[in-house]
Amino acid sequence: MARGAFITFEGIDGSGKSTQLLRLAEALKEDGYDVITTREPGGSEGAEEIRALVLEGATDRWSAETEILLFTAARRDHMERTILPALAAGKIVLCDRFADSTRMYQGLSRGDLRALVDQLHDLMIGREPDLTVLIDMDPAVGLARAKGRQTAEERFEDFGQDLQTKMRAGFLALSEEFADRYRVLDGNRSMDDVALDVHKTVRAYLA
Ligand code: ADP
Ligand code: TYD
Repeated sequence: MARGAFITFEGIDGSGKSTQLLRLAEALKEDGYDVITTREPGGSEGAEEIRALVLEGATDRWSAETEILLFTAARRDHMERTILPALAAGKIVLCDRFADSTRMYQGLSRGDLRALVDQLHDLMIGREPDLTVLIDMDPAVGLARAKGRQTAEERFEDFGQDLQTKMRAGFLALSEEFADRYRVLDGNRSMDDVALDVHKTVRAYLA
């Protein structure tokens, strides 16, 4: 049976993760791989319900600690029902955001809660991606793109550009902390150029 691979996309809001994940899925299918795409928060029925709780409403709707619990609960359901079964079937799982987003958004945005995020991750999730593609992006451009979408899911975008700037620096630091699995790509290019780079990078990993 083919060996599965768990590949995540990370980066600030509006960096192009969702666009690139879909492009990569198409490219890998053409290469002959069995691919599924999924996202966090969400990716299973229960986790999609939790998604609405955490992404809609006022920025102060939840404390950072409560958010860690909600995102981790969603992730546990997503792992059990979507990610682990697909990996066991030898598929390539492409996931839009994962635990590194909790390390950043809940771990850094309101005080230093990184240790708590890691503890809960070890207790309840216990698995890292095989490969993480970080799409690095100017925070102002990312936020403008994200704001252009006009959805109800704006709790984090409403924290503003300071948060985006902090998240960008945090993701770059994380890429050094987990250098083995991280690949950092420049998102300030055309969609086609970024897509070629993502495909080349992931193909090299899979080979
Ligand atoms: P994310 O999932 O990281 O929030 P998206 O893929 O949803 O980002 O992209 C946010 C917006 O920016 C979308 O409207 C998308 O069409 C646009 N976009 C994505 N990549 C690029 C790019 N390289 N250049 C210009 N616009 C882009
Ligand atoms: P997403 O839909 O990927 O937003 P975008 O397309 O704008 O990047 O994620 C929605 C928001 O959820 C995003 O602002 C980051 C936040 N988030 C967390 O705060 N913690 C998490 O663990 C995850 C997965 C996402």
